[in-house]
Amino acid sequence: MTTAAEKEFLLFTDPYKKFGEKILLKISHTLRVKDLCVDIAKSLNMNQDDVELSALCGLLHDIGRFEQWKRYGTYNDSQSVDHGDLGAELLKERDLINAFSMTNHNTILNAVKNHNKYRVPQTLDDRDKLFTDVTRDADKIDILYLFAEGFLTSRLHGAAISESVYQSLMKQENICTRAIKTKADVVAFHLAFVFDLNSTRSFEIVKENDYVDKMIDRSMGETTNAELKTQLENLRKHIDRYVADKTRR
Ligand SMILES: [Fe+2]
Repeated sequence: MTTAAEKEFLLFTDPYKKFGEKILLKISHTLRVKDLCVDIAKSLNMNQDDVELSALCGLLHDIGRFEQWKRYGTYNDSQSVDHGDLGAELLKERDLINAFSMTNHNTILNAVKNHNKYRVPQTLDDRDKLFTDVTRDADKIDILYLFAEGFLTSRLHGAAISESVYQSLMKQENICTRAIKTKADVVAFHLAFVFDLNSTRSFEIVKENDYVDKMIDRSMGETTNAELKTQLENLRKHIDRYVADKTRR
């Protein structure tokens, strides 16, 4: 990883630090995502230039978050702006992207813009899709880590997982944010990240770190709702089997 790009990132984020803890959390998330991108890129036998490009996509994926927090005081895209779109716009408009790289602009912009989309647009060419997929995987793995270790929580109370959301998970489908109705759906939404992972290495990281089981254990401890407990145990078995299949070589 080029330390020059990392320095540039820290220079960019520095003025936002006055907005507090939430900004620092995004900086640390970004640095972990960058490392995960390197891990995944190496597992795909990318050459050194492409490993560095993957690292750069990870480093820039949430560049829109800082301006989002400054302008709207929230990280909730539906209440403010799509932070992937905003990030790509900022990189282009402010000519910021040149500070990080003089080449591969489209690949970087596509990874930033599409890292948070429900689906990757089919219009991306194979190379741009590859770097977008690496970035999406790394981002999702770090969010699973944050939930598994209790840094993010959904504060479960009351309602179980909505039937339509539960059925989507059982069909191994990604959940659309519009489908979220209950706090338990938020947990389900994040568990479903597993179904959107691409690389074998990504599944290995999830398995090695027990992210799914840890997330489910935490949720079980937060609820007394019997229906939800049953749903979570069913999902545990279902997702563990899916991850086991994806890591079987
Ligand atoms: Fe993001």
